[in-house]
Amino acid sequence: MILQFSFALAAVISTAHAQGISFERDVLPILNSYCVMCHLPGAEQGELSLYPDAWSRLVGNPSVQSSLLRVDPGSPDSSYLYLKLIGTGESVGGSGLQMPFQQPSLDPDQIETIRLWIEQGAKQN
Ligand code: HEC
Repeated sequence: MILQFSFALAAVISTAHAQGISFERDVLPILNSYCVMCHLPGAEQGELSLYPDAWSRLVGNPSVQSSLLRVDPGSPDSSYLYLKLIGTGESVGGSGLQMPFQQPSLDPDQIETIRLWIEQGAKQN
């Protein structure tokens, strides 16, 4: 009974999540926990500053390592940020390592959150 209820609840939560990822609520905390420390203004690795305005530095902005945009709204596969998280940046002529640099990769659900956010239009919400 309790188990059934948990499954139902999990399904409701994941549906809500899949329908509307929020940049502020869902994506920014991931960047702040795993990325910002190396991507700070004045010492921005990869010429990418993720503070204080990560959204503007990512969305519609050209990557320095490849010819892709860092985030191409609606298209995770042509967003260099996403390719850096799954480790396929070199397949599009990029360089460097999978992010976070020299650390374990993000959890699959964190990567999926970012992928869905891009797919849903990379809104500033
Ligand atoms: C320990 C330091 C460090 C951490 C943590 C880190 N990065 Fe990086 N980042 C780098 C370095 C160094 C480069 C340039 C060399 C490379 O790509 O390997 C880079 C480059 C990048 C680039 C390429 C920028 C461009 O315009 O081409 C992106 C995108 C990026 N990082 C995103 C992230 C994200 C997202 C996270 C968190 C999941 C993260 N980084 C965590 C050090 C870091």
